[in-house]
Amino acid sequence: MNVLVRLTCAVGGSLLFFMPSCNATPRSDDALMIVSFGTSVPSALTSYKSTRANFEKSFDKDQIEWAYTSEIIRKKLKKEGQHILSVNEGLQKFADKGTKVLRVQSLHLANGAEYKWLERTVMRFIDKNPGVFEKVYIGAPLLESRKDMEEVATAVMKAMPAERKSNEAVILMGHGHSNGQADLPVMAMQAELQSRDPLVFLGTVEGSLSFDDALAALKKTKAKKVWLIPFMMVAGDHATNDLAGPEEDSWASMLKKEGYEVSTQLRGLGEIKGIQDIFVRHALETKDDMVKIEKE
Ligand code: CO
Repeated sequence: MNVLVRLTCAVGGSLLFFMPSCNATPRSDDALMIVSFGTSVPSALTSYKSTRANFEKSFDKDQIEWAYTSEIIRKKLKKEGQHILSVNEGLQKFADKGTKVLRVQSLHLANGAEYKWLERTVMRFIDKNPGVFEKVYIGAPLLESRKDMEEVATAVMKAMPAERKSNEAVILMGHGHSNGQADLPVMAMQAELQSRDPLVFLGTVEGSLSFDDALAALKKTKAKKVWLIPFMMVAGDHATNDLAGPEEDSWASMLKKEGYEVSTQLRGLGEIKGIQDIFVRHALETKDDMVKIEKE
């Protein structure tokens, strides 16, 4: 609904060749609810702010709300005097404003536990409040299609530290879940990254692809130095503690114990333009209407 493409064309080229180059900025008049897990680490907000700024190029900034799925983080922030919307509160806010068409865009990386919970919560709200919204679209998480995976790999490879030498390895830390819900997209991503650069590995905090898997693969290479980078939207608690922290069981400490030189680049995926663009594309292109459930 209401997705317009605004063409901004510039004329370039020489006197002989006038080659118009057009950059299409897709626009939508629909309201947008961005939903992320949340973070209580203030410095990690850089990632969310930058992601939001990119959404504002395609959506009216007065029609955007942001909700966190993590109750623990919302409660923690509330104690510090900051109120962040829950998903239900966000939906209620749009309902009160009289919004008819709403796009919900999750910033989750895969169709895992948090994303599925979000879908169920939106469905439940619609069921309890019939006739409030005409359409509620839910955008896909970051990694759904092959195109997504390839774009993510390209964006991540481009964002590698400039100082990294070609014989230095990289281990990215993803999240994953102990129940295995996001194992397959994570494994596909790992394979794609490996095909781009055999010294780039992906492990997760909770999923089945673990740090031990990454370490075992790393040991088969000649790399002596390892860069540690989060593969999460924000460089929050997991990045500062589990990845780069001083405790014995952080990935940095375990690698040092194995004799590797370790450097870190603590930057969330949300700070990378190529990643932000995938979320905007998902928000604009989704046809998954949760109000009138139709099948093609
Ligand atoms: Co976690």
